[in-house]
Amino acid sequence: MMKKGTQLYEGKAKKVYLTDDPDVLIVDYKDDATAFNGEKKGTIVGKGAINNRMSNYLFKQLEKEGIPTHLIEELSDRETAVKKVSIVPLEVIVRNVAAGSFSKRLGVPEGTEFTEPTIEFSYKNDELGDPLINDYFARALNLASWAEIETIKKYALKINEVLKEFFLAAELRLIDFKIEFGRYHGTIILADEISPDTCRLWDVHTNEKMDKDRFRRDLGNVEEAYQEVMKRIGLL
Ligand code: TMP
Repeated sequence: MMKKGTQLYEGKAKKVYLTDDPDVLIVDYKDDATAFNGEKKGTIVGKGAINNRMSNYLFKQLEKEGIPTHLIEELSDRETAVKKVSIVPLEVIVRNVAAGSFSKRLGVPEGTEFTEPTIEFSYKNDELGDPLINDYFARALNLASWAEIETIKKYALKINEVLKEFFLAAELRLIDFKIEFGRYHGTIILADEISPDTCRLWDVHTNEKMDKDRFRRDLGNVEEAYQEVMKRIGLL
């Protein structure tokens, strides 16, 4: 089994360790939760284990559908071996239904369905508060090449199609989600995580929120919502 070496990095929700293989990292998911660029802090008990297992499961499904990912192997409840990528500093957000910052910025009521999905980019930069940018800005900042941006968009839309169908089978509407990509030996692959921390998931019948918005907006029953999503997708 792969062994954890020196800690490379500690993020808001994960710690990342080196291993004796320079191409492999181990991520360790925490129960810590933050929102609004770290202004709001808390704990969601059991979240680390849930996000680790859910993200790995979803990445496996996506691999089957032709999306390359960083996943190597789940090592424990909270730990996973992943390919060491250099993260493209873009938060890639796909939306099917208006919610969150889209609704706020553009005055569109939450729950308004789009006729087709949208893609947006934020520049991953905590000091600047992850500002919204477009693909020309991404080029101006030299965050990615045009070819990489095209690949990222193509993968993001395909991931949306796969996940939308997957969650619908679990009676969940995929409202929107955020993904990140990395470069691995010159190719773009899906990295980071996909979990209720990074998606909006609403119950198909009641539109009840089953994701991190329960924490962000103090709606209560946060742990219960994460567990319910796990149950519905057959992982609990
Ligand atoms: P937004 O509506 O706040 O822009 O969020 C869009 C989606 O991105 C939503 O599913 C939550 C997710 N998200 C993250 O994963 N990390 C973040 O830092 C933010 C702001 C949003």
